This record gives sequence, structure tokens and C-alpha cells, in this order.
Amino acid sequence: MRRPVIAGNWKMYKTQEETRAFFEAFKPLVPATPECDIVVAPPFISLAIASAAAHGSPIMIAAQNAHWEREGAFTGEISMRMITDAGGKAVLIGHSERRQYFGETDESVNRKVKAALEAKLTPIVCVGESLAQRESHLTHSILKRQFEGGLDALTEHEFSRILLAYEPVWAIGTGKTATPEMAADAHRYLRELAATVFSPSQAAGIRILYGGSVKPDNIKGLMAQAEIDGALVGGASLDAKSFAAIVNF
Ligand code: 13P
Repeated sequence: MRRPVIAGNWKMYKTQEETRAFFEAFKPLVPATPECDIVVAPPFISLAIASAAAHGSPIMIAAQNAHWEREGAFTGEISMRMITDAGGKAVLIGHSERRQYFGETDESVNRKVKAALEAKLTPIVCVGESLAQRESHLTHSILKRQFEGGLDALTEHEFSRILLAYEPVWAIGTGKTATPEMAADAHRYLRELAATVFSPSQAAGIRILYGGSVKPDNIKGLMAQAEIDGALVGGASLDAKSFAAIVNF
């Protein structure tokens, strides 16, 4: 049985003060021993504050990105070690907005995944097709390329430490959720890839989250699919009540 994961990606939202206020409101709304793993990914500048605010709660803090080098002359970048130092336990890698607007490739995703594992962070590796790709029936070939490229040369043990997030680009921030069946189909395909590239037992264990316009009113239907192990929530994770409603689905 795979334990569900509900993760919130705050993107470029919330100041430090707003971060404190969120946790004050959110913590009482979730049980001390919830039935799923809870992750919140604030902007870098609020990582330490979020970690302190989440201390003693079951909430795990994640970064939204990081560089693969340990340190160096990389102006504006943050290393994996800086994230762990700030209390982060996980890191989103290869979010479609990073791929679309900041030129991330399967190769940079792969370097980041390896660096995150080395730093003992949980990589949350994001994959997903655009609308044009879906309409051209390229969904599976895009997922295959992203999966094989992003996770290239990982050992089975390393693979067992990651989380995958399927986020169809056309469903992000658009209010258009993939139907539970569409999401499940993509998840099933990713699991097949995991069986081929790694092993059937790895495929059975990997947790795959769905992301794209997840809200309190559609989480139940998504989670009813055996293939869907959790959600990566954008907009609806910014509000303590709505994120708690998703966590408590
Ligand atoms: P929305 O939930 O706002 O569609 O964002 C999804 C997402 O990109 C989470 O990483």
C-alpha cells in the first residue's frame, strides 16, 4: 500500500509574514498523525521560517528548485546543502514552469535529481505534456523522454527515494483538471516505464502525484483512482483552509 502524499507548491507567492500566518492557521486544521504525507514548498526566502513554523508537526518543507553544484560562482542560485541547512527535506525538480520559462532540460533535471539524492533530499520530479503535445497524441512519448532523461543512470535504490509528479501543462493554473481517468492513464504509463527501466517492485512502490488545478472539490475523485498516490497543488495550497480540505480528503 502506497502512503498518499499531498504537496503544496506555493510558486512565487507569500512573504515571510504571510508564511508565518499560513502555518498558524494551517497547523490546527490537520491531524497530528495524518493519513498522508504533507509537504509545503514555499519560496527559498521563506524556507527557514516555514521549517521553524512546521517544527513538531507532520508537515515536511520542500524547496521549489535548486542548483546541482555544491557551491561556486553561480550568482542567484541555491544549493541542495543550503536547502537542508534551512530545514528543507525535499525539492521540486523540473516543474513545467522551470522547463518553460527557465530553460530546464531533462539533462539539468537529471543532474539536479542526483545532487538532491546526494544531499539526502527527496526529489519530487515533475513531468507532463503540453496541450499541443497531447492533441498530437505525443503524451506517452513525452513522458517517456522526460522519465528516461530525467532519471537516467539512477540505481534502483535511488529511484526508490524519489517522488514523481505528473502535471499536464494544460491543466496547471487553468481550472481545467485532467479527468481522474486521464490522470490515471498517464500514471499507469509512468509505472510501466518504472517497471521497464528499473523493476516491477520499484514500479509497485513509486508514488506518483497528480498536479493541475487540484481543488477541495475534485481531490476525492482523483484519489479514488488506485494509480493516483497524491497531489501536487498550486493555487489551492495558498489558503490554509482549502489546503487542509485537500489534505483531509
Ligand atoms: P495549480 O494547482 O494552480 O493548477 O498548479 C499546479 C502546479 O503547478 C503545482 O506544481
